[in-house]
Amino acid sequence: MNTSEPITFVILGASGDLARRKVIPAFFALYCQDKLPPEFRVVGFGRSELTDEAFRQRVMEHLACRYSLGPDCARREAEYLARCFFVTGSYDSRDAYLDLYTRLREIEPPGAAVNRVFYMAIPPDAFLDVSHGLGDAALIACDDGGGWTRVVVEKPFGRDRASSDALVRGMSQIFSEAQTYRIDHYLGKELVQDLMVLRFANAVFEPLWNARHIERVSVLWRETDTLAGRAGYFDRYGILRDVVQNHLLQIVALAAMEPPSGLNPVAVHAAKAQLLRSIQPLAEDDLVLGQYAGGTRGNLRVAGYREEAGVPADSCTPTFAAGVLTIDNERWRGVPFFLLAGKGAARSVNELRIQFRRPAADLFGTAAAGLPANELVVRIQPDEAIGLRVLNKTPGLAMKLQTGDLNLSYSEAYPQVVPEAYERLLLDVIAGEHGLFICADELAASWDVVTPVLHAMEESPHPPEAYALGGDGPASTAALAARWGFPWPPPG
Ligand code: BG6
Repeated sequence: MNTSEPITFVILGASGDLARRKVIPAFFALYCQDKLPPEFRVVGFGRSELTDEAFRQRVMEHLACRYSLGPDCARREAEYLARCFFVTGSYDSRDAYLDLYTRLREIEPPGAAVNRVFYMAIPPDAFLDVSHGLGDAALIACDDGGGWTRVVVEKPFGRDRASSDALVRGMSQIFSEAQTYRIDHYLGKELVQDLMVLRFANAVFEPLWNARHIERVSVLWRETDTLAGRAGYFDRYGILRDVVQNHLLQIVALAAMEPPSGLNPVAVHAAKAQLLRSIQPLAEDDLVLGQYAGGTRGNLRVAGYREEAGVPADSCTPTFAAGVLTIDNERWRGVPFFLLAGKGAARSVNELRIQFRRPAADLFGTAAAGLPANELVVRIQPDEAIGLRVLNKTPGLAMKLQTGDLNLSYSEAYPQVVPEAYERLLLDVIAGEHGLFICADELAASWDVVTPVLHAMEESPHPPEAYALGGDGPASTAALAARWGFPWPPPG
């Protein structure tokens, strides 16, 4: 594609949190790295009554100068903000899209073919209305040389397998699969992208990457943030739809898939989809759900989930889930995968932990000495790092063993700024690269893992177990972890 052609980024849901905190700043970061064409516009669309100026004020609050420093940054900010515009409209109003059309014609360069990216930072129940609105207002080009149109859709994509399928079908009447970019921003994270490199560019790991040598795998995702400010939205989805069905299962897919036949998107998507299809649906017995209770942080009182604005006092929506998955294929049969996702935790950390088995001949008696076996830890965030725990001789005259870490800390090893996930992904949308986006097959397979349990929870709702803010999660997680041989509380 020709990156010098004009591009308009239309952000639907532009006054929302996601757009302001992540998407619009990511376009700015690309601008600061000279990755955007000279003629670009960022057009926010949303229900708020905002002038261009008021929108720019809001955008400015979140722009970070990570790539341009000092006066150069101030100049870049001013230039960027001058290209930001806002159109007010409701998602189900046909007229609103006609207004959008008129506004785009006013601000886009006349006579030139314009490429447009529509970014849906809105709840999934609005995806179809918005797609129809855009289509009916003739805002979607058909890639006939007069400019292209691409659509980026945020997760969660649907509520379960059936609604996700229906959404795929519905949107396909307006956007082709080639025009559709289903985003899971974890795929843009540096260490998540690195999983394939780690596994397939290093001959030392892949031969050991199976049930013979690996005892168990954990994907641990914890966040200090509570749901304050977005609980009304979250209450309709819950943690399984918010992060497990997408972010955590994508990490599992990349960590456990067979080697793809190549690096092209079709091959990688096929390998991930095949793995996701081999995961047995999450069973209710292997799942603990929790909801954070109110507490204090420092001297401040923090509301419990059920006290948040927009959450019913008897809400059964989980803010924590810990579950064990099994994969029914040659490579992984017998290896449990422990997935944990929790809001309101003591610290924010996301790690993949691969626990290896002990050597068959335990010459040094490490098991009897209570020494742990090797473990590979991929710390996705914060402080990106890859660490391998090894057993080592303690220096000295005695033959005494201890554990040591081979540690690749990104902040120490690499001087360059680690890009935000959205930067990489938006650049791929501009370049027409689908590899880091979710294809329809993967989407369906990952919904199949959680749909039965989601339906069971909805058919007979019961309150999730309360857990203390800043704690490890509900008390019964300890029993689940112990039953499958995982340490509790989780390391990290
Ligand atoms: C989003 C979830 O997809 O990811 C949020 O909806 C979560 O609940 C967020 O907080 C975490 O993203 P990151 O990049 O801060 O780890």
